Amino acid sequence: MTTLADTWGINEAQFWLRGVRPEQPVAHDEAAGIWNVYGYPEILQALSDHAAFSSATQRLVPETNDKFSEGNLVQMDPPEHHKLRKLVSHAFTPKVVADLEPRIAKLTHELLDAIPGDRTELVTDLAYPLPVIVIAELLGVPSSDRGLFKKWVDAMFESSDQFSLKERTKEQEEYFAKAMDQVQQLTDYLVTHAQERRRQPREDLLSKLVLAEVDGVRLTDAEVANFGMVLLVAGHITTTMLLGNTVLCLDAHPDQYAKLRADRSLVPSAIEESLRFFSPFAAVSRATSHETELGGQVIPADQLVLLWVAAGNRDPRQFTDPDAFDITREPNSQIAFGRGIHFCLGAPLARLEGRVALSILLERFPNLRTDPADGPEFLPSPAMTGVKRLPLLL
Ligand code: HEM
Repeated sequence: MTTLADTWGINEAQFWLRGVRPEQPVAHDEAAGIWNVYGYPEILQALSDHAAFSSATQRLVPETNDKFSEGNLVQMDPPEHHKLRKLVSHAFTPKVVADLEPRIAKLTHELLDAIPGDRTELVTDLAYPLPVIVIAELLGVPSSDRGLFKKWVDAMFESSDQFSLKERTKEQEEYFAKAMDQVQQLTDYLVTHAQERRRQPREDLLSKLVLAEVDGVRLTDAEVANFGMVLLVAGHITTTMLLGNTVLCLDAHPDQYAKLRADRSLVPSAIEESLRFFSPFAAVSRATSHETELGGQVIPADQLVLLWVAAGNRDPRQFTDPDAFDITREPNSQIAFGRGIHFCLGAPLARLEGRVALSILLERFPNLRTDPADGPEFLPSPAMTGVKRLPLLL
């Protein structure tokens, strides 16, 4: 039977899930020079062993500019990771996030109020601007610059190529150079704002970061800017996809949609199931520090390893009936936010934004559904799985 999900290409967007079975949880892609890990327990093993699976993957991709790794939490290993994580966690306390709820609700209503007529393109009208405005306000950069953020961030995820450490084509080189140039522009923008805050601190996250100290030493402008970049990139594109993907999943599974409409207390578990079923951040990367065994395979030192959390989230060894979208799934041990020391710092914020926005959409638009005449479009990057365009009828 062809489901709506197939019609709209959910399975197409997650093409790597096809053929991924626990018989081969770890696979070497010789052509690309990388290792792919698809199995849930194998992914957890790698995420918990940071001595063997280092987060500093940039050293394997020589063209990436070293200066972008300064202050980039995602690329750090202990003990440096521990120090910076402790420092920035103070800015992301549960209270800071919980206090944002009324602002997120107000913004959602304002964005929805601005939609003329009975149609919307959800990404442009809500799913993109909402998380970007929230993260920009939190950081303390003008949210009116969001057109610029979009230009810079989009360039990083434009390529539809599979990952490869082998020789690149001319097009891939050009894409790479363009992406690096955009990253540089975003960094320069954030350095300018960080320097302003050093001179005149305000009540925002950038000010907290420039004033914060790790072992008596302040962060450099580059560290503050790179961390700001991680927040701006990680903090919006993924949540944009979470909102779009959740609406798409519900639309594709009318029984689950009806269940949610009848019982709104299921909104948080619907968000968890969307994260499992259609994980926005499909893979996280690691570099082996030494030869190590995973899933019955011996991986040599200095190898790039991609941990496909989106595939792990469909592992039948972990989830009963993994290809069913079930908003009452219990327990739901999805790993869309990763696990261990690098567990997503913004998970509480992403969950809050998802919960608030979905609740308001359900409340305001009881007949919200996809437009049969205008299907969704997906992001081309295999690492970022989600809608980039989702036309809806209100
Ligand atoms: C880390 C996913 C939203 C900030 C991560 C990781 C994943 C992830 C899988 C782990 C990376 C690794 O282990 O290498 C997601 C998803 C989101 C989301 C699916 C939305 C649905 C956010 C938001 C923010 C954020 C809203 C910030 C406001 C971060 C940061 C890290 C991180 C700073 C690095 C943590 C560390 O290395 O210690 N995220 N994220 N994320 N995320 Fe998120």
